[in-house]
Amino acid sequence: MRKTLVAAAIAALIAMPGAAIAQSPIIIKFSHVVAPDTPKGKGSEKFKELAEKYTNGKVKVEVYHNSTLYKDKEELEAMQLGAVQMLAPSNSKFGPIGIKEFEVFDLPFVIPNRAALRKITEGPIGAKMLKLMEAKGMVGLAYWDNGFKQMSANKPLKNPEDYKGLKFRIQSSKVLEAQFRALGAIPQVMAFSEVYQALQTGVVDGQENTWSNMYTQKMHEVQKYITETNHGYIGYVVVVNKPFWDGLPADVRGQLEKAMKDATVYANEISEKENQEARVDIVKAGKSQILTPTGAELAAMRKAMEPIYHDMEKRVGKQTIDDVMKAVNSATN
Ligand code: LMR
Repeated sequence: MRKTLVAAAIAALIAMPGAAIAQSPIIIKFSHVVAPDTPKGKGSEKFKELAEKYTNGKVKVEVYHNSTLYKDKEELEAMQLGAVQMLAPSNSKFGPIGIKEFEVFDLPFVIPNRAALRKITEGPIGAKMLKLMEAKGMVGLAYWDNGFKQMSANKPLKNPEDYKGLKFRIQSSKVLEAQFRALGAIPQVMAFSEVYQALQTGVVDGQENTWSNMYTQKMHEVQKYITETNHGYIGYVVVVNKPFWDGLPADVRGQLEKAMKDATVYANEISEKENQEARVDIVKAGKSQILTPTGAELAAMRKAMEPIYHDMEKRVGKQTIDDVMKAVNSATN
């Protein structure tokens, strides 16, 4: 059904090039996969509010939350074909369309804190990586935060041995695949919209995600334990279809750039608080026990995952990994 819809939308756009711009008001369809009550959900609503305000109504932004328009893989295909104008996929989701450098963000424990993250996203390496979108028919407009990932399952996950043989849902990233293989687990790529049901029915045993994503998808209701590992990071690149963007009147594009800049400040300011609040809500719900790993347990996780940095050099690019590590070190030294 969804496939038919995608095909129909694509056919309509191919038949009418520039259709989105020729309309009055100009419509921006902004599709994403998470709930409205998350850093990305709120950021997209803020962009809508500001874009419509700054363009004096010349642009109308239609936000589609929670995979209601497209799921993970479809949304990038639809975007490249111009059936949707704007998305904010997580860094992990650009690998399958050939922008493997973004999987650098998936390296375990690569980002120690938000200050280090800013050094990457706001520094030369971040700008260089955004440029990579253009060869794929997109313009990278901004980096939006979500937060740090935690591990969950129906058994307590403390040491690397606890992961052995368990099936984990992953986003479509080879680095994440390597991460779970390093723990002896079985990774399974799955769209975000399917995770809750897969956990509920036992198709997978566990998953990794941020507090806000887990809470808003009710994952804590079907996972007995969440281990607060903060071992990885989820963030987004807001991308826009390039022919659409380039075809906008210059004044409108400028107003939208300002709306994106201001929405980005907002989204990145609320991300940490949103995640902390979701953590509190999960504790309050009382369905899932939160485990805090000891220093020794975390060290064992790091050690088990360390070979990935070398193994993934070919995939992600040694230069990209080095540049990211340099940015991280400049924040921590
Ligand atoms: C996931 O698939 O787990 C996340 O990338 C979802 C999202 O967009 O935060």
